[in-house]
Amino acid sequence: MNKAFFLAPMAELSHRALRELIFSFGGVDEYFTEMINAPSLLSGGPLERYYIDAEPCPEKIVFQLVGADAEKLASAASILDKLACKGIDINMGCSAPAITKYGAGVKWMFHPEKARRMAGLVRKSTNKRLSVKMRLGPEEKFEYLLPFCKGLIEEGVELITLHPRTAKEKFKGRARWNYVADLKKELSVPVAGNGDVSSLEELVSRADGPWDAVMVGRLAVKCPWIFAAARQSMGSQSVTDVPSAVNVINSVNLEETAFRYLELLEKYQPVEFHKSRAHRFFQYYCGNMFWGNYLMNLLGREKEIPTMRKILKEYFNEHPDEREHKI
Ligand SMILES: Cc1cc2nc3c(=O)[nH]c(=O)nc-3n(C[C@H](O)[C@H](O)[C@H](O)COP(=O)(O)O)c2cc1C
Repeated sequence: MNKAFFLAPMAELSHRALRELIFSFGGVDEYFTEMINAPSLLSGGPLERYYIDAEPCPEKIVFQLVGADAEKLASAASILDKLACKGIDINMGCSAPAITKYGAGVKWMFHPEKARRMAGLVRKSTNKRLSVKMRLGPEEKFEYLLPFCKGLIEEGVELITLHPRTAKEKFKGRARWNYVADLKKELSVPVAGNGDVSSLEELVSRADGPWDAVMVGRLAVKCPWIFAAARQSMGSQSVTDVPSAVNVINSVNLEETAFRYLELLEKYQPVEFHKSRAHRFFQYYCGNMFWGNYLMNLLGREKEIPTMRKILKEYFNEHPDEREHKI
C-alpha cells in the first residue's frame, strides 16, 4: 500500500531552507516544522516569523507546538489556526532536558489526565487537523500507552505519531516498531511510525508496514533526496504529489546539493540562525562523505557561510570522486 511520508520535526533543521531542498526532490506528503515554542510565539518576537513560514508548500505543513502550559498552547494554536497549513501537532515526545525540565515535551506523557485536558483545550482553539507526536511514555508499557492515546483521541486528536522509545531512552537502543503496529490495530485514527530509518532499503521496507505513514528525521537531513528515491524505487508517487513532483534521480552531486542548502539558508533564514543551522545540517550531511568527520569538524569551526563554502570547495577539489553520489 502507498504510505504517506512525513519529514520529522527537528529543532534547527526542519525549517524552510531544508524543506525547499527536500521539496526540490519531491516525495514528501507532510512536512512537520521544528518545534515552535508556544510562549515565544505568543510574545511575538522578531524571529518568530521564521518558525511559522509555511513555504514552499503550506498545504503540506504541520506546525509543531511545544510548551508546558495548556492555556498558552491553546492560544498559540489559535494563532496558527489562521495560517494556511495541513495541521497542528503537539510535541509530547521531546526528551531534551531543556524542554522536559519545564514540564513540556515527553513530560506530558507522565500526566495522562493533564495531557488529555490540554489536548481538549487546544482542540477548541483550532479547526485544523490536530495531531500528537509522542514516545512510548515513562516506561515500555503498552497498557499505559494505549489508554493515553485513547484519551487524547476522545478529546479530538486525529493523528498520532509514535517514536517508540521510552522517555529516558533518548536515542539509545532501537525504535521498537512493533508498538506502532500494535497501536495501529487498536486506534481509530491514523498512526505514523518514526525512528531509526537509516537507509533507502529501510524506508522502502517500512513503507510496507501496517501503519499509515512513515516519518523520517535524521536520514532526511543526510539524504534530502531519500523520499523521492524511495518513491522511485517503489514505483509509486507520494500520496499527495502530482506525478511530475518526483524527479527521477539516479545520482546526486553532493557538492552542488551542499551549496544549494547554504544558498537556501541565506535566502530563507535570518543571519542569527545561519551558524547553528549550517552546523546542524552538516552534522548529518557529512555522513555521505568518506572523510565526513574531518569535513564536519572543519565546518564546525566556521561561523559564516562564505567560509563554509570555501571549505566545501577545497574538500571536493581534493576529493573530486566524492561529488557524485549514486542512489
Ligand atoms: C536535532 C534534532 C532535533 C529534534 N527536534 C525535535 C522537535 O523539535 N520536535 C520533535 O517532536 N522531535 C524532535 N526530534 C526528534 C525527531 O523528530 C525524531 O523523533 C527522532 O530523530 C527519531 O527519528 P529518526 O531516527 O528518523 O531521526 C529531534 C531530533 C533531532 C535529531
